[in-house]
Amino acid sequence: MKMTIVFQLILGGLLLNLAGCNTMESSGNKMSGEKPAGTATAATQSGPDGTLALPADYKSWPKFLTDIKKEEAKQVRDIYINPAGARTSAGQSFPNGTLMVMEIYKAKMDGDKLAVGADGKLVKGDLAKVFVMGKEQGWGNHVPESLKNGDWAYAAYDASSKPLMEDFTKCRACHMPLAQKDFVHRYDEYFQSRGRM
Ligand code: HEC
Repeated sequence: MKMTIVFQLILGGLLLNLAGCNTMESSGNKMSGEKPAGTATAATQSGPDGTLALPADYKSWPKFLTDIKKEEAKQVRDIYINPAGARTSAGQSFPNGTLMVMEIYKAKMDGDKLAVGADGKLVKGDLAKVFVMGKEQGWGNHVPESLKNGDWAYAAYDASSKPLMEDFTKCRACHMPLAQKDFVHRYDEYFQSRGRM
């Protein structure tokens, strides 16, 4: 009888302890999530989103795809991939250390229509934004299951390379259905066009 009470006390203490740890952990997360926009926050709700640097030399990287027409958004986009990522073969996932940079340009207008060059491509106007996605071991660890994109993380910059604090859960939600293609929308197109180059 005595033994049972002692046991229950110990068990109760353990449970209290566990509950204590959980509270601390969640308030810890909350604090880092509340840092003001523009501050690099590691381990926020969506992992290291917003903390990926914009590599200064990305324009010298292999091209992933260029002159992507986004008629509805009146945009043209160019995507670059770093050399580590470009060594990937079709059918594989991109390795840790992969970075992709997507330049989003405003498309030039010809009156109220999109201007089209002699080459049939949309004509690039001003650079609007630059999006980055990168992958590193463990980056997905603290991301809730409903937003997990493997170990990919996301960042965004304006035309002058200043970090933009976008809602990175939106990046995740829209790339998530591409899980079979390593979360990369233009996966198939990339490997097909690379084969032709
Ligand atoms: C509404 C859906 C949607 C959202 C939101 C979105 N993306 Fe994408 N993303 C796409 C599509 C579609 C492509 C393929 C290129 C294209 O058609 O523009 C793409 C392509 C990319 C690429 C090039 C690699 C690839 O997947 O082909 C990067 C890098 C990227 N997005 C980063 C981001 C970042 C960073 C954010 C958030 C700031 C973001 N995306 C938000 C749909 C989305």
